[in-house]
Amino acid sequence: MSATILDGSAIASVMKEEIRRETAAFTARTGIRPGLAFLLVGDNPAALSYVASKERACAHCGFSSRTVRLPATSSLSDVLEYLDAWNIDPDVHGILVQLPLPAHISEERVINAITPRKDVDGFHPVNLGKLVLGQECFRPCTPAGIQELLIRSGVEISGRHVVVVGRSNIVGKPMAIMLMQKAAGANAVVTVAHTAAQDLGSVTRLADILIVAIGKPAAITADMVREGAVVIDVGINRVPDPDAPKGYRIQGDVDFEPVRLKASAMTPVPGGVGPMTIVMLMRNTLQAAYRATGSNDSPASRKG
Ligand code: GUN
Repeated sequence: MSATILDGSAIASVMKEEIRRETAAFTARTGIRPGLAFLLVGDNPAALSYVASKERACAHCGFSSRTVRLPATSSLSDVLEYLDAWNIDPDVHGILVQLPLPAHISEERVINAITPRKDVDGFHPVNLGKLVLGQECFRPCTPAGIQELLIRSGVEISGRHVVVVGRSNIVGKPMAIMLMQKAAGANAVVTVAHTAAQDLGSVTRLADILIVAIGKPAAITADMVREGAVVIDVGINRVPDPDAPKGYRIQGDVDFEPVRLKASAMTPVPGGVGPMTIVMLMRNTLQAAYRATGSNDSPASRKG
């Protein structure tokens, strides 16, 4: 067997077009351009490149965007000053603080300082609490993108056994919560595994759908995957490669070629989950702009 490739880039392109058209109609009707504000602290090259991709997506969709870059030595109050201003700025509908932050700045305090109405990352406790309860909310972009990718690729989720490897607040935890909901595009039986598992392979081999977000290059090997499983690789690891033009290459958390021979479908890295994350951010931002006008939710909205 050789797995079908789940082409996140292609699906994200289609969705970006949907959002671009919807935004044009929204702006024509209301005179409002959805606006997203980015805050970046320090000069982590991967973070810089992610924010640049998100800015390009904003331009494509017809949103305005602004980016503030602060030095790595900035204090918590430097960061909070921008968030306080953006929370009440009517031209800013969504706020994104790129993570991780330098160790001396509390991520918890930063996330809590973003008004839930503009928390398009879906990281604020109000949004995560609503997600758990199955209420309308901003949903974290990476797990929301994975769910959308599975749905649009025709992968049956209801009643299947999903194993999520990783328990981060950004991916693993919200992914498990979303897919266990009694809702369309969910209703799965979900197991969460992580680094403390005594025998990780014995858990991952149970998966009909295996979702891996641990940030360890090629950690999931073919022997850990059941024949015919659907494999979603969230990892974006830079590994040194003297033959690559930049001196590194991008490697997922899954050992791609050997796993491809066992899986029925899988996402590539790059070009799988990454583009879906960005397009869900665009959808959340358009949603935030709709809500700011007090108008009905955008047609593209979906409950947690
Ligand atoms: N760092 C890694 N993923 C994300 C994300 O989705 N949002 C933000 N703000 N930071 C991240």
